[in-house]
Amino acid sequence: MYEYAIAWDWLTFAVRWLHVITGIAWIGSSFYFVALDLGLKQRPGLPVGAYGEEWQVHGGGFYHIQKYLVAPANMPEHLIWFKWESYVTWLSGFGMLALVYYAGADLYLIDPNVLDVSKPMAIAISLASLGFGWLAYDMICRSPFGNDNTRLMVLLYFILVAVAWGYTQLFTGRAAYLHLGAFTATIMSANVFFIIIPNQKKVVADLIAGRTPDPALGKQAKQRSTHNNYLTLPVLFLMLSNHYPLAFGTQYNWIIASLVFLMGVTIRHWFNTRHANKGSPTWTWLATVLLFIAIMWLSTVPKVLSEGGEARAATAAEAVVASPDFYKVRDTVLGRCSMCHAREPGWEGIIVPPKGVILESDGDIVAHAREIYLQAGRSHAMPPANVTGITEEERQLIASWYERTIKEGKVQ
Ligand code: HEC
Repeated sequence: MYEYAIAWDWLTFAVRWLHVITGIAWIGSSFYFVALDLGLKQRPGLPVGAYGEEWQVHGGGFYHIQKYLVAPANMPEHLIWFKWESYVTWLSGFGMLALVYYAGADLYLIDPNVLDVSKPMAIAISLASLGFGWLAYDMICRSPFGNDNTRLMVLLYFILVAVAWGYTQLFTGRAAYLHLGAFTATIMSANVFFIIIPNQKKVVADLIAGRTPDPALGKQAKQRSTHNNYLTLPVLFLMLSNHYPLAFGTQYNWIIASLVFLMGVTIRHWFNTRHANKGSPTWTWLATVLLFIAIMWLSTVPKVLSEGGEARAATAAEAVVASPDFYKVRDTVLGRCSMCHAREPGWEGIIVPPKGVILESDGDIVAHAREIYLQAGRSHAMPPANVTGITEEERQLIASWYERTIKEGKVQ
């Protein structure tokens, strides 16, 4: 059983690694093209159909790039497509969602205090929300409402706020944020898969057949690509927020998420304006800092646990607390970990419990048994640099206690 815990942990690490790499590749190429597009210069004498050009220097060479608005007169022989970065980011992200939140639904997805649902039901809600999100978004963009880009963006913003609130009514705070990120990222990847790439394929087919491509195809792709641009930074915030309980562990977490979407716009707007050589709108940074301060303030509002939730946790913990050696494990944790992992840490320089992990009571130890095992029993990750001098025997004790207790089915 414990081999399984280790293999599982490594599998999620591998998928996370892939996800981060492909995400970097996708965002890197998309930021590059947005900046390139905004900075294009026109001059007399450009080839027929060319809208603008740019000179760039990178890695010891000069690049001369020209953009054709609809398409060049003749199809080039080699054409490079940018799509796998996006597809693999989505696929690996979905893999993570399944490994962490579906497989570990009891721990990470379902919060009985929020909504007491079964595992399959919670997973079904999650899947349906992602699919439905894309369908609704796509429909709104195609409707007459989508003809005005600004009006469309404002509507989409309020929809995202509603979705942020909605997810906090369904899942744990952590899962709510991750789902809001996945909801948005699914729209972004689907924009590439269902709109941007197919439209480009149609243009290529028209060119090969000698027809004049429809400019509306390019316009639609551009609209979706602009949405993707403004959504990128908030999605990254939401994905990273999992490691920062301050961001999701308050009852106002959905308001924080709403402000994060605004920060995505204020930050991108500065870069987009700069890249278009239209000056440097400093007010966007002022707005960003104010939004961030508001977020920090909101994050200090604690979440209240209902009485029912506390009672439930207490019953589950009793069986584990009664297990052999528990008191030795507790002594180890209290002696080696609690100075940092406390509501009010006593360790110099540590102000809040690191990663939100609190190890003060029996219930805390039960709730974090698997993490304690992985961080301090099986690996030497904790305590950092072994500052509190945990001994090998104590690590052995944690490991053997967990392995025995999990065999007996008492902990996750
Ligand atoms: C000196 C302070 C300190 C002590 C003592 C300490 N920790 Fe930590 N712990 C940290 C910090 C800091 C982090 C956050 C590390 C990071 O940012 O990756 C952390 C993170 C963790 C995490 C979360 C890991 C993750 O990435 O999700 C767990 C679980 C944990 N510690 C368990 C323990 C256990 C068990 C002990 C005792 C054996 C212990 N810690 C002792 C400071 C401490």
